[in-house]
Amino acid sequence: MPNATAIINLDIEGPKISRHLYGHFAEHLGRCIYGGFWVGEDSPIPNEGGIRLDVVEALRALNIPNLRWPGGCFADEYHWKDGIGPRDQRPRMVNTHWGNVEENNHFGTHEFMALCELLGAEPYISGNVGSGTVQEMSEWVEYLTREGDSPMVRLRKANGREEPWRVKFWGIGNETWGCGGNMRAEYSADLARQYATYCRDHGDNKLYRIASGASDADYKWTETLMQQINCFGCEATPRTFFQGISVHYYTLAGPWEAKGSATDFDTDDYYRTMVSARKIDRILTGHSTVMDCYDPGRKVGLVLDEWGTWWDVEPGTNPGFLFQQNTLRDALVASTHFDIFHKHAERLYMANIAQTVNVLQAMVLTDGDALVLTPTYHVFEMNKGHQDAASLAVHLRSDDARRAVGDAQLDTVSASASVKDGTVLISLSNLDAEEPADVTLDLRGGSLGEVTARILTADRLGAHNTADTPGAVAPRTFDGLKATDQGLALTLPPHSFLTVQAPLA
Ligand code: AHR
Repeated sequence: MPNATAIINLDIEGPKISRHLYGHFAEHLGRCIYGGFWVGEDSPIPNEGGIRLDVVEALRALNIPNLRWPGGCFADEYHWKDGIGPRDQRPRMVNTHWGNVEENNHFGTHEFMALCELLGAEPYISGNVGSGTVQEMSEWVEYLTREGDSPMVRLRKANGREEPWRVKFWGIGNETWGCGGNMRAEYSADLARQYATYCRDHGDNKLYRIASGASDADYKWTETLMQQINCFGCEATPRTFFQGISVHYYTLAGPWEAKGSATDFDTDDYYRTMVSARKIDRILTGHSTVMDCYDPGRKVGLVLDEWGTWWDVEPGTNPGFLFQQNTLRDALVASTHFDIFHKHAERLYMANIAQTVNVLQAMVLTDGDALVLTPTYHVFEMNKGHQDAASLAVHLRSDDARRAVGDAQLDTVSASASVKDGTVLISLSNLDAEEPADVTLDLRGGSLGEVTARILTADRLGAHNTADTPGAVAPRTFDGLKATDQGLALTLPPHSFLTVQAPLA
């Protein structure tokens, strides 16, 4: 049986794991907003002001730190003024990116801000650069965040909201290299500077501006942005134009043209998926290395504001709606991503899984009034103690927890650890499809009090939850931990995710 030793120094705290690494993404795409978050006030499904309460309740248990909206590709054809005022008078449009369906704009700015309040999440608004104007974006910031009296403040008040909202995260375009305008990096960087200039800080509302960044390993794009980040001529009050730059990376088992089924896959597909998931480590390292050259003090945040699995849509569903099931395989993609995110805590400030409800690697799936929690949901829940915790470096040693997958080598044990308020949380994944792994937790520099552990696994990798079998993949108590002279020992079953929690003694 493969074995691995994880050396963890309990007394050496590393960089803080930003809670925003557990961020989310909700686009006007398929049934994410309509039917997912939003059912309307007249729906028989219990709602508050039109927002589905079962979805809110499920997501509140994840402590969602931020929610990105309204896209994605949709953001670059969204005109925010169409989504305010009486709903029956709001203009309609065609959502050309996603299914060519009509958008009635019933879910707009006020509805989104109400959703964030219900979730206890910070809003992350993605502004339109592709087909919008500087004035339109500037006025949206004013509408949301300005106090006192001004044209946009009067408009907001006329729509029933006296006080400004607080909005920190502001995206300047999305995928400007593709659906957001098919731009060159140089042009996109210039536009980002221009738009950022007019996205003002009103009063004490300070924006965190996020420039539309690279896809995958396009380090040249990141370099082009970083070269343009400083405001020359602002020497009196030195500042950068954007506080963060984004990157997108999706996990696939093969090429875009042959993504494969979410549920019906074989072991080879599974291992290729895990190699693809692990690639995020190299990609984050690449972008961080470029950023270090221009920003050695690591003040500018890397924002992975789209990540997750992308499979073929479920048979019989609209191909433009990106509705996919979610199995134990997806859960392990998430758990290994989080281990890698924690390792990059010093530069990686935010990450947003795509997407929260009914689209791509979702937390919850709805069907009429039914709601199902996915295996990925449980990883977010089991890992939530890492939010804003101090990372603890994990030195993983193994001679044999490794598999050849084509030309690649897949390390099959993945781990990360943190400490917050005197409580240690250790996350462990065994990515091997068949073999258990003997794991030693070599704990140094301290010891633990009463230890509890939970495990997420199932008899097969394709296991998933449905309305008829909602608990097919759900966390269970794990009682296989043994105290040793070194710390703890356990056997990690194949394809499993486990968390160990304990107070420092
Ligand atoms: O998440 C789905 C789509 O993927 C987003 O709209 C876009 O930004 C990306 O290509």
